[in-house]
Amino acid sequence: MIPTNLSRAVSSPAKLWEQRLLTFIFEANFTMRLPTCKLQLQRHIRRVFLGKNACGSGYDFDVFMHRGAGAYICGEETALIESIEGKQGKPRLKPPFPADVGVFGCPTTVTNVETVAVSPSICRRGGTWFASFGRTRNSGTKLFNISGHVNRPCTVEEEMSIPLKELIEIHAGGVIGGWDNLLAIIPGGSSTPLIPKKVCEEAIMDFDGLVAVQTSLGTAAIIVMNKQTDIVRAIARLIMFYKHESCGQCTPCREGVSWMNKMMYRFVDGNAKPEEIDMLWEISKQIEGHSICALGDGAAWPVQGLIRHFRPELEERMRKYHEKERVAC
Ligand SMILES: Cc1cc2nc3c(=O)[nH]c(=O)nc-3n(C[C@H](O)[C@H](O)[C@H](O)COP(=O)(O)O)c2cc1C
Ligand code: SF4
Repeated sequence: MIPTNLSRAVSSPAKLWEQRLLTFIFEANFTMRLPTCKLQLQRHIRRVFLGKNACGSGYDFDVFMHRGAGAYICGEETALIESIEGKQGKPRLKPPFPADVGVFGCPTTVTNVETVAVSPSICRRGGTWFASFGRTRNSGTKLFNISGHVNRPCTVEEEMSIPLKELIEIHAGGVIGGWDNLLAIIPGGSSTPLIPKKVCEEAIMDFDGLVAVQTSLGTAAIIVMNKQTDIVRAIARLIMFYKHESCGQCTPCREGVSWMNKMMYRFVDGNAKPEEIDMLWEISKQIEGHSICALGDGAAWPVQGLIRHFRPELEERMRKYHEKERVAC
């Protein structure tokens, strides 16, 4: 199975039901795999699985490989469409949604390659079979990517609703230094709020399970951090990434994420007053829900997770910093 986030599939029927087009977009980091995929594609065209009269169905089905623009924001579906059209990868205001107005004005479906990869199994075995995994409203299987302080980082397809602790212990060989050495986990990719160890013990890896503990399933890319992690620096580093990747169209995202980045790096040293923790929280709330795309939210949530669960750590750093300053005077 192709790993999640390797590329995106964009399909745009030129004349509905008569011709289907599928374009695979390769992100810059994965272009090494482009020649292999092109080779496979040619093989399928030769065997008449694709192209004119695909599989003898009477339909034409073309597949194209396209090299992506290489920016994180080009993963957002409308930015991706803009970049295919040869423009800067900046998200569009929605509506209209791509299903109505997409690539070159045609109705378009943008999906993760994970969605494309699982579709044949669902078609073959049926929706009831797929829905038998996981629990109600959260059914199916999922690709979980487990990285950070685990013994065996991996990407694994598992049943939805699996407990987080079980997922890490069965597939990733457990936390480095043992479960008791766990500090916190980011459960759904860098844009989702972290949860501390005591919350991780009970967390269920599905949509409802993670919302219940004030975080989100997101991309299901789990980042494990053990007690050797500088948690404030780790979150600051994520905010620096989002500041760099903001396309700059919306003021709350462009300015707000930049402010959060500056404050977070002062917080790493402890060079701030405790009241500024509330200011940082307020900035994150002013960004959340006030931007064209979800990058703004994705930058706000890691900060909110840190403040929610590690406020005493932030205050302790500030206390120590000012103590050192006083002694030095
Ligand atoms: C800032 C940003 C970056 C994104 N990057 C990706 C990405 O790299 N890969 C991806 O599949 N979806 C990404 N998305 C989500 C897409 O917009 C879209 O929802 C997704 O590709 C839909 O596919 P799915 O329904 O199969 O999950 C991103 C969204 C945002 C807001
Ligand atoms: S939220 Fe940020 S990345 Fe998204 S459109 Fe606005 S400025 Fe660009």
